[in-house]
Amino acid sequence: MAALIIIFAVYNTFVYTQGTSNTTPKMTALAIEGEKLYQTNNCTACHQLFGLGGYLGPDLTNIISAKNKGSFYVKAFLNSGIKSMPKFNFTEKEQDALVQFLTEVDQCGYYPIYDATIKSTGWVDVKYKNQKVNNND
Ligand code: HEC
Repeated sequence: MAALIIIFAVYNTFVYTQGTSNTTPKMTALAIEGEKLYQTNNCTACHQLFGLGGYLGPDLTNIISAKNKGSFYVKAFLNSGIKSMPKFNFTEKEQDALVQFLTEVDQCGYYPIYDATIKSTGWVDVKYKNQKVNNND
């Protein structure tokens, strides 16, 4: 019994004092400014990031790296508006901040994830951006 308690204590100490391998992502100051603009202008009421948000407009997770899209494309939409999307009168600096925010969101991952395989063990192997090692086994 004493051995079990010791093992339990050691195990818990180990588990609860380990740093997680996924360190908190850090955004640049400009991207944080962009995030605030994204929130205060309710982009999320119509758009999704990683599938979450309103569904009037398309998902913007990978808008920056998408083929034939990117920063100028985003700015064009902000300046002109389209259908139910209002025209925003952002300054050049504010547009850059929004683009920087979307760029850093884009660097986090893919949405939707097409590149996933279900292994015989039941684990799902997902391809992440900037992935160096796969320690999911
Ligand atoms: C009232 C709803 C609404 C709001 C608020 C809104 N949008 Fe949109 N947005 C849309 C719709 C709808 C479209 C799709 C138009 C189309 O392609 O037919 C769109 C398209 C876009 C596109 C092009 C997407 C693509 O894949 O072609 C971008 C980029 C975009 N919006 C960015 C933003 C940003 C950034 C904000 C906040 C500052 C914002 N939108 C706020 C409705 C909205």
